[in-house]
Amino acid sequence: MNSSLRSTEFWERAAKKDPYYFITNKKYRRDSEFFASGIVSIDKNLAEIFPDKDIEDLSFDSILEIGCGVGRESFYLCDFGKRLYGIDISKTMIKKAIEFQREYDPADKIRFEVTNGINFKSFDDSSFDFVYSNITMQHTGDIATVFSNLTDINRILRSDGVAAVLIRTKELKKDIDHNPMFDEIDTPPISEKELLSFAAKAKFRNPRILPQREVVTSWLVWGV
Ligand SMILES: C[S@@+](CC[C@H](N)C(=O)[O-])C[C@H]1O[C@@H](n2cnc3c(N)ncnc32)[C@H](O)[C@@H]1O
Repeated sequence: MNSSLRSTEFWERAAKKDPYYFITNKKYRRDSEFFASGIVSIDKNLAEIFPDKDIEDLSFDSILEIGCGVGRESFYLCDFGKRLYGIDISKTMIKKAIEFQREYDPADKIRFEVTNGINFKSFDDSSFDFVYSNITMQHTGDIATVFSNLTDINRILRSDGVAAVLIRTKELKKDIDHNPMFDEIDTPPISEKELLSFAAKAKFRNPRILPQREVVTSWLVWGV
């Protein structure tokens, strides 16, 4: 079985079994607590991605969130744009996100869609001014899939846009960041040096790695 199919099957099982736990590694008693965790993480991540801006001033036309799960971050992230596309390889994650939409997206700004996990064929070149992907690319199972995603993100990114993708850059250390439940889909690390060299060859605009966020992952950011 190829790694993209393995990853899709894994996330389908996760979405049916216990999506909140698989998404955050935590148990929640209420939906509201789970979605509140998305607000905390978006505030933190936007502040890191846009260090020179007050996040309240951020305002995008069109946001793409890759690996949106059930919408934990999407329902707050859409406040920073006119519209948001949330895409995920798991049909069940997307089905649940749409179910939550009535409560958490009353303005109907979001379109949730299933994606193939490899590229963004359904989107035209230069469609988005912000592309965001959090805790997703470390679970693709292989490095080629990450590079395929990065290449196609660059195609759909507007020339005035910014892309931010969280990527595994360090070996997993037992007892620290290693959860054996992800063993079958863990992406091997891609060093920061390799990432920057890939981005330079692919002619990404102004690629940079943000200061280390966690032990094993880093944000690759490019664009204005
Ligand atoms: C750990 S969850 C994170 C969900 C969401 N980003 C959040 O923080 O709440 C990872 C999600 O990414 C999805 N996923 C994994 N690989 C993907 C890929 N290549 N493209 C799109 N979605 C993917 C999974 O189905 C799952 O919903």
